[in-house]
Amino acid sequence: MWKRVEKAYSSLKMRVDFKPQIGLVLGSGLGAVAEQIESVYSVPFENIQGMPTSTVQGHSGRFVFGYINRVPVVVMQGRVHYYEGYTPQEAVLPIRLMIRMGVKALILTNASGGIREDLDTGDLMMITDHISLVPSPLIGKNDPSYGDRFPDMSEAYDPALRETARAAAKKVGLDLKEGVYIQFPGPNFETPAEVRMARAMGADAVGMSTAIETIAAVHMGIKVLGLSFISNKACGLGNGKLSHLDVQKESRAVIGKMSELIREIVVLASNK
Ligand code: HPA
Repeated sequence: MWKRVEKAYSSLKMRVDFKPQIGLVLGSGLGAVAEQIESVYSVPFENIQGMPTSTVQGHSGRFVFGYINRVPVVVMQGRVHYYEGYTPQEAVLPIRLMIRMGVKALILTNASGGIREDLDTGDLMMITDHISLVPSPLIGKNDPSYGDRFPDMSEAYDPALRETARAAAKKVGLDLKEGVYIQFPGPNFETPAEVRMARAMGADAVGMSTAIETIAAVHMGIKVLGLSFISNKACGLGNGKLSHLDVQKESRAVIGKMSELIREIVVLASNK
């Protein structure tokens, strides 16, 4: 796996001469946030050797290198999920790649189902901690040049970045909620019984990504900020059935708000 990361890195490095400071991963339906970026290079995943490619509708699968307010960034448009049949190790390869390119902080966004009562469709929740029901992406041989065998996870979502996000939310006039994210393997949505279990475990929002990406980033010593867009009430808590189409439709409405928030976070974080 480590060889594969390095191979992908060499192949990407050949195509772009750019050192991003912040990496941004855009979740389901949130791809349009990338329109914020003064784009310099765009590299489709299929042009990178050894790169797993995204197969989900609504995920286009490319890295966009450019600037947000003069801060060099890389945006991953269309993430790779465990449920697509990739191993957790493969699913986090793009995260490791962005870190190899130079990013020091990662902003991970996703769409998720609200479990906690006050988390309604259209809300934004900052992730304070996570629970993962997916095997760790660190399983297997460790390469100590990447990180520790047993990384500490006590502050996986960086407290200083969280403070920055709170300040940014205040500035753009957004009610940023906070809570614990749980990653289910997917691709099926959860059953009502599973959602009750997740709630009993202490989870506030449920999705199918992010936690394993955070683990890989923490392994490599990189700061993470997680933002969940609540696209629906979790199964059994809202009205009717869930569909991916609804997830995408709901996210279109919040793109503007989310873009503004992210721009402000990037500006504030880069000044630190
Ligand atoms: N469950 C899991 N993943 C999701 C959901 C959900 O309710 N909504 C958006 N992504």
